[in-house]
Amino acid sequence: MTSHNDDLIPKYVEVTEELRKGHYDVQVPLHEGDDISILGESLQNLAHDLEHRYSQISETDKITTNINQGFLLEDILESVYKEFKQFIPYDRIGFALLEQHGRILRAFWSKSEFEETKIKKGYAGLMSESSLKNIIETGVPRIINDLEEYYHNKPTSHSSRLAVEEGIRSSLTCPLISNGVAVGFMFFSSREKNTYAEVHIATYQRIVRQLSIILEKGRLVSELSDQKNTIEKKNEELKRLDELKNVFLGIAAHDLRNPISSIRGIAEMMLDERFELTNEEKKEFLSDIYDQSNFMLNLLNDLLDITTIESGKFLLNIVPIQSDEYFEQILERHLKLAEPKETNIIIENVDKGLINADVARFRQIVDNLISNAVKFSPPKSTIKIRVLLREPYWKIEVQDEGPGITEKDREKLFQDFAKLSAQPTGGEKSTGLGLSIVRKIVNAHGGKIGVDSEPGHGATFWFTIPVKPKV
Ligand SMILES: Nc1ncnc2c1ncn2[C@@H]1O[C@H](COP(=O)(O)OP(=O)(O)O)[C@@H](O)[C@H]1O
Ligand SMILES: [Mg+2]
Repeated sequence: MTSHNDDLIPKYVEVTEELRKGHYDVQVPLHEGDDISILGESLQNLAHDLEHRYSQISETDKITTNINQGFLLEDILESVYKEFKQFIPYDRIGFALLEQHGRILRAFWSKSEFEETKIKKGYAGLMSESSLKNIIETGVPRIINDLEEYYHNKPTSHSSRLAVEEGIRSSLTCPLISNGVAVGFMFFSSREKNTYAEVHIATYQRIVRQLSIILEKGRLVSELSDQKNTIEKKNEELKRLDELKNVFLGIAAHDLRNPISSIRGIAEMMLDERFELTNEEKKEFLSDIYDQSNFMLNLLNDLLDITTIESGKFLLNIVPIQSDEYFEQILERHLKLAEPKETNIIIENVDKGLINADVARFRQIVDNLISNAVKFSPPKSTIKIRVLLREPYWKIEVQDEGPGITEKDREKLFQDFAKLSAQPTGGEKSTGLGLSIVRKIVNAHGGKIGVDSEPGHGATFWFTIPVKPKV
C-alpha cells in the first residue's frame, strides 16, 4: 500500500457519508491500478446508480402524488393522461376492465389528442379470443411498434383494425394489477411507428402498483358519490310523495266531507217520520245522493290513479287500436253524455291507422279531454275532434268554444288539483285531477300534451302518442 493511496481512504469515508445523507452527485478521486482504486471505482458506480434510482423514484412519486390528488375516477384518469406524458409518449390512453371473472374486457375510459375515437366506452370483447390473454398470464406489457404490419399478419383482430383506422401505429399494452390480480389493461397508443421501448415498460412497471391502488380508490369514491346522488334523489322523491300525500289528505278532508254530510243530511230527513215526503221528493233526494256518491267515487278513483302512477307501479299494456273505429265509438258515447247540454261533437278528421297505446289509459285521456271540453263550454256549442297521423307521432286534438285558457292558468293546467278560472257551465263537479292524470299517462306513452288557446276564443287541447311504441 503506497502512501498517497492512504489519503484516499478518508476521502472514500467522506463520500459514503455524503451518500448516506442522500447526496448522490459525488466525485470519487481515483488512481489507476490498485485495489483501493477498484474500491473507489465501485463506489463511484454505486453513487451513479443511487442517483439514477433516486431520480426514478422521485419521478414516480411525482406522477402518483399528482394523480392521487383526484378523488373521482374521472379526475384521476384525466391527470394520468396529463402526467404520464413526461415519461411515456402517446397520443391516446385507454383503460379497459375485465368483467365476469375475466371473461369479458370492456373499454371504460379513453382520451386522445385526435378527435375521432373508434374504440368507444362500452366497447367489449371476449378475452378468450384476444391476444391480450398472454399479457395477463405473463404480467409483462406488450409493445407493438408497427400496428399496420401486426394487423396485416392478424387480420381477424377487430380492435387492431379499429386502432389502425384511427391512425394508431404503435401501442404499449400494460396489465393493471390490483392485489396481485389482473383487473384490466392500460393502453398507450401513438400515431408514430416505433414509439415504444423497454424503458417505457420499466417506467410503467415502477408505477403500476401505486397506479392500481389509486385507480381502485377512485373507483370506490366514484361509486360512493353515485350512491350518495341516488340516495339524495330518492330522498327528494320521498319528500315530494309525502307532500302529495298531505295534499291528498287535505282533499279527502275537504272534498269528501261536503258530499258525505249532505248525503247524511238527506238520509236523516228521509228517515224522520215527521216528514211526509212525496214520491217525487223522494226521487229527487235519491238522485241527489246518487250524484254526490258518484262524485266521491270519481274523486277516489282519481286519487288512487294518481297514487298508482306516482308509485311507479304503472304498467302500460300497449296494443294496436284502429283509429277510425275507435273514435266512432268514443263519439257515440260522448254525444249521449252531452245530450243535456245539447253540445254538438264532431269528428272533423281521422287519419286511418293503428294507434299503439294502452286501451284503458288511452280512453282515460280522450274521455278527460272531451268531457272537459263539454264541461267548460257553454251549452249548444260545438266540439271538434281531429285524429292526425304526423309521423313519428299521432296527434289528437280536441277543440272547444269555451272560455279558453288564460296565460296565468296555463302554467298550472297540468298539475295536480288545478281548479282554475274556468268553471263548469252545467253544474258538473270538478276535482282538478283529470288533466294531471292525463299528462302522466301521455308521458308514460312517450308523448306530449299541450293546449293552444286564445282566451275568449276556445281552447284546443292536444296530445301526441308515438307511432312506434316506447319500449
Ligand atoms: N277545455 C277547457 N276549457 C277551459 N278550461 C279548462 C278546460 N279543460 C280544463 N280546464 C281548466 O283546467 C282545470 C283542470 O282541469 P282538470 O284537471 O280536468 O280538472 P277538473 O275537470 O276536475 O276541473 C279545470 O278546473 C278548468 O278550470
Ligand atoms: Mg276534467
